[in-house]
Amino acid sequence: MTANKNIEEDKKKESYPTNKTWWKEAIVYQLYPRSFKDSNGDGIGDIKGIIASLDYLQSLGITVIWLNPVFSSPNDDMGYDVSDYRNIMTEMGTMNDFNELLNGLHQRGIKLIADLVLNHTSDEHDWFVQSKSSRNNPYRNYYHWWPAEKGVPPRRYSVFHEEGAWTYDNTTDSYYLHYFSRKQPDLNWENPTVRKEMYEVMKFWLDKGVDGFRLDAFTYISKDNSYPEIPEKYKEDPFSYYSCGPGLHNYLQEMNKEVFSHYDLMTVGEASGITHDQALLFTATERKEIQTLYHFDHANWGRNKNNLYYPDLKNRKLTDLKKIFSLWDAAFENDGWGAVYLTTHDQSRMVSRFGNDTTYRNESSKLLLTFLLSMRGTPYIYQGDEIGMRNIRFEKIGEYKDLHTINYYHYLATTGGDTQAFIEAQKETARDNSRTPFQWSNQKNAGFTNGTPWINVNPDYESINARNAENDPASILHYTRKMIALRKALPVLVYGDFNLLEKESETLFVFTRRLANMQVLVVLNFSDTETAFTLRANDKIVKEIINNYNEQTHFENSRVVLKPWQAILYECITDES
Ligand code: GLC
Ligand code: CA
Repeated sequence: MTANKNIEEDKKKESYPTNKTWWKEAIVYQLYPRSFKDSNGDGIGDIKGIIASLDYLQSLGITVIWLNPVFSSPNDDMGYDVSDYRNIMTEMGTMNDFNELLNGLHQRGIKLIADLVLNHTSDEHDWFVQSKSSRNNPYRNYYHWWPAEKGVPPRRYSVFHEEGAWTYDNTTDSYYLHYFSRKQPDLNWENPTVRKEMYEVMKFWLDKGVDGFRLDAFTYISKDNSYPEIPEKYKEDPFSYYSCGPGLHNYLQEMNKEVFSHYDLMTVGEASGITHDQALLFTATERKEIQTLYHFDHANWGRNKNNLYYPDLKNRKLTDLKKIFSLWDAAFENDGWGAVYLTTHDQSRMVSRFGNDTTYRNESSKLLLTFLLSMRGTPYIYQGDEIGMRNIRFEKIGEYKDLHTINYYHYLATTGGDTQAFIEAQKETARDNSRTPFQWSNQKNAGFTNGTPWINVNPDYESINARNAENDPASILHYTRKMIALRKALPVLVYGDFNLLEKESETLFVFTRRLANMQVLVVLNFSDTETAFTLRANDKIVKEIINNYNEQTHFENSRVVLKPWQAILYECITDES
């Protein structure tokens, strides 16, 4: 029987749920344009480069692209410091290029969600230039100011480890607030005019045909404008205070009413520091706020809890990871909808963090992609993971471009800290690990640019690149396409219930997905060693659906031995009589 016929048969066993939506069925590819493809030799990826790669994107089978910011920006934080929300960053191209990209994607049945930076602008945005020019400028209230005659403002911390989140500006003898860098002043969402401005920005892009938004750092937007001392209960983790602003839910409901409700769009919020209960308040359908969000709980897995710049690989436990994912699945069991990802441009490479990026790079990459594409929640694949790109592990601070790393290094250097240990640590945790250029081929600069790349190319490009992967039937790339096709063909993988098995195992990640009469058993060996898995007494395997090794598996007395990083999906029947 052909694979297609199999899929048709499987489909009949499932019954579609009634709350279907395209954004639940979406398969998202996160595209970091600065490092995707350079078209003009200036070393910076650009929109024309993406346009030239549309066929590649389509060939993956993905249905949505989350495009990191391409708005005008001085790039203090790589586009997350926007100086004009209605224009395209010079290095990225023009508005015409953007229109052409959007068209090209739509023609191929791919949607695009834009990355909207809500919490702050660039200090070069005209609103801020005006705002800081005088205390009675009409834009003064667009930002948060603290007049110096009131003394030093209550302590706020900068996510990017600057001296603090208030910076003094002598033009008006006042401090302004910036949760991120000093070039990213926070907008004052308590001001209704600011909110209106931002809703207009959203409509501008939606009217252009953009299919939704990734809402950058949305939990931080609302602030108590009396700027109290951070309450005692947040002292351990002051950043969690940032995500609990008093007006947040009101603003999201207003945003929904003014903007979202008028379009058929997808919204996904970046939600650091929130609990499961809070997550549902943002995403429950009846509350009319946002549709989905992603949390950071597993982003900190394998990191030192006291200082997230440092890894703690020894204390990584698969049982913890399983707990994180199953608790988040449960959070959206009855309402709301989650996002499933393993890395973004803010974390190091997927296979370097969750897999084995040397001996089992191929197998473990495939296993991780199998995981992403068989969990409940909209899956996000990060650019380069489909070819198994790895951490670059820079040896010198001079190679880093990310101020998150650079600022902390300087802090250590000026306070007598151990900068060498920090460089070692950043090899595992730095954001730049995921920001190196996409590896297209084994040509100069991995075929990314004819010029000098803005950030060094990973030297492993000679073997790890898309062209090699294209030519190798056993590549991660081909497997990714197969797995994506499977997710699209089997609604059980989108809508089916999730049930974790083997909860105590430190090597096996096993779960079932079930929709009506169709049940898929997902068996993943998250380890370098062979591991046996035994079926539950009343389970019966119908057939193997996909396997990241070539050889079929054989059960003997309900027991199967999995190879290192082996990943298998079975169709499985549970006898409940
Ligand atoms: C988000 C972005 C990150 C950026 C930060 C500030 O976390 O993903 O890259 O640095 O917001 O805008
Ligand atoms: Ca360029």
